[in-house]
Amino acid sequence: MTVITTVTVRVPAKVNLRLAVGPRREDGFHALVNVFHAVSLFDEITVTAAPARQEAALAALTASGGTVDLSGVPLDGTNLAARAAELLARETGRGTPVDIHLDKRIPVAGGMAGGSADAAAALVACDRLWGCGFSRSELLELGARLGSDVPFPLLGGTAVGTGRGELLTPLEAPGRYRWVFALAGEGLSTARVFGEYDRLRPQAPEPEPCAAMEEALASGEAAALGAVLTNDLERAALSLRPGLGRTLAAGREAGALGALVSGSGPTCAFLVGDADDPRTAAVEAEVVRALECRGVDACVAADSGGVPGTVVV
Ligand code: C5P
Repeated sequence: MTVITTVTVRVPAKVNLRLAVGPRREDGFHALVNVFHAVSLFDEITVTAAPARQEAALAALTASGGTVDLSGVPLDGTNLAARAAELLARETGRGTPVDIHLDKRIPVAGGMAGGSADAAAALVACDRLWGCGFSRSELLELGARLGSDVPFPLLGGTAVGTGRGELLTPLEAPGRYRWVFALAGEGLSTARVFGEYDRLRPQAPEPEPCAAMEEALASGEAAALGAVLTNDLERAALSLRPGLGRTLAAGREAGALGALVSGSGPTCAFLVGDADDPRTAAVEAEVVRALECRGVDACVAADSGGVPGTVVV
């Protein structure tokens, strides 16, 4: 029998196509109807057995990141990827010391669920390395215990999340879309944005499913999707970062079919067209140019539509 000593898992970022936020529940979380959509920006997580390491901590973390600013990535036990390894070890009793390397392309604290993606990937990698043999649904359940956004990257594609966002139902979404993301130098804390949301909207109604979003996704048309993108957290993110409003306006004026703050921000997402339409490249170039003129720190482009969740590579 071959003993596996290292596992690499690729995991996508997400953008929220619709984020409807209800009142704060008794457990402190908000009721959500959250349409998650995986985009082709990937982190790669490598978990390697470290039998010689005698330290108390189960996982030792390192990170690399090309152009990604890694200053906000904790490399201790508070990192969600380390907590994922700890949780799986506790549940199975099989945990042995591991080194976890995060190779990041997903912006940090950017509202694209990069930390949650890393946790989902760490669950899959440790499950494989330790031979736990958990099913997808068991990993989804463990992911939900780590954070509201952790289950989705295990699935990828498009899914609606209810409850606090962790209860997933896949959605039919045959379209392929092209996006530009405007990254901000400094992240925003999710908890702070939800707190601002409560201040601005103390009597939020229960969040409702949205037939128009499901129809737009089923049509596969980029223009139809652009018309129904909404995010209830946007006002709160803009209240904390007023400059984001000008960023959204600049992308819209340059021809984006839709624009919104991604999740709790501060990344802004611009839908620039159908990924397979040759006219999309010109819109993308215009939007990037306008954002750069606005002084946006960095832009990245990515495709979406059928982007898979965690994959062992
Ligand atoms: O679930 P997660 O740990 O990602 O949430 C981070 C923070 O975002 C929570 O501590 C909470 O303040 C806020 N949150 C919320 N309602 C949700 C999800 C997150 O208030 N449904």
